Amino acid sequence: MELIRTIPEARCAIAGAKLAARSVGLVPTMGALHEGHASLIRQCRRECAFTVVSVFVNPTQFGPHEDLAAYPRTLDADAALCRELGADVVFAPNAQEMYPREQLAWVNVERLGEHLCGATRPGHFRGVCTVVLKLFNALTPDRAYFGEKDFQQLAILTRMAGDLNVPVQIVPCPTVRESDGLAISSRNRYLSDDQRRQAPSLYKALTHAREMVRHGQTDAQAILEAVRQIVEAHPDASVDYISLVDKELLQPLARVDRPGVLAMAVRLGPARLIDNISVDPPVAMK
Ligand code: PAJ
Repeated sequence: MELIRTIPEARCAIAGAKLAARSVGLVPTMGALHEGHASLIRQCRRECAFTVVSVFVNPTQFGPHEDLAAYPRTLDADAALCRELGADVVFAPNAQEMYPREQLAWVNVERLGEHLCGATRPGHFRGVCTVVLKLFNALTPDRAYFGEKDFQQLAILTRMAGDLNVPVQIVPCPTVRESDGLAISSRNRYLSDDQRRQAPSLYKALTHAREMVRHGQTDAQAILEAVRQIVEAHPDASVDYISLVDKELLQPLARVDRPGVLAMAVRLGPARLIDNISVDPPVAMK
């Protein structure tokens, strides 16, 4: 496995793979890799002959009051894990390599960022889209792998690639969870023992909501209220948002009459946890 720091060197390694007719897969990450990232890398390895993992803490997707400086940087451990998983290249540029001068060209996907995380993180998805398109242009992968855990990010990047004729197939990957249902995230480490015991209630609330829909409840207000009650049972939990949106444009649904996603962000002590689940209309409505 090669650890590469510059775009020209990465292009050279990837050109070699393409010359040998190997399909190239990219797993974009910000490092601090855990089992969630590992599952993306494994899926990429299964489906592509050449696997590139990018590790870059992208400054343009952090707001002025967000934790850019505090974001964990663990490149040695990340590279060791990628090697163990059989990745071919770890691409770990510094900020100067990715943003050598003031960035004046930006990618913005309209509408899909209006709700959920986009509502409270202005500019976040513009930063994500821009860095991902820069990575695509620098590395020219055939496929790129993203987790469903960050559902809004996945939807926005899929729309970007489609609307802009980007020749990269966006591959969605299922959320990896702890055995008690908590979605794996680098932020879980900030939870106290008590908060950690409570954290699976997010997923429990989501699966409860899905059951309600299966049993015929389609009224968004009733579903959201039930979810909120489960999540707010813990005194440390403070809800950022709990929303039911349609899968295509991520706009609020009054009824589950189309494929939707129930998504939430909840602060549990110092950690902001996000999770989501697909909800489809009950069979009788289809
Ligand atoms: P990061 O938070 O490092 O996540 C990298 C990828 O891992 C994302 O596609 C994310 O959805 C996926 N992931 C994280 N936890 C997961 C889990 N428990 N199960 C499945 N997938 C999981 O997301 C980013 O970085 C950045 O915004 C990036 C796309 C790299 C652009 O900077």
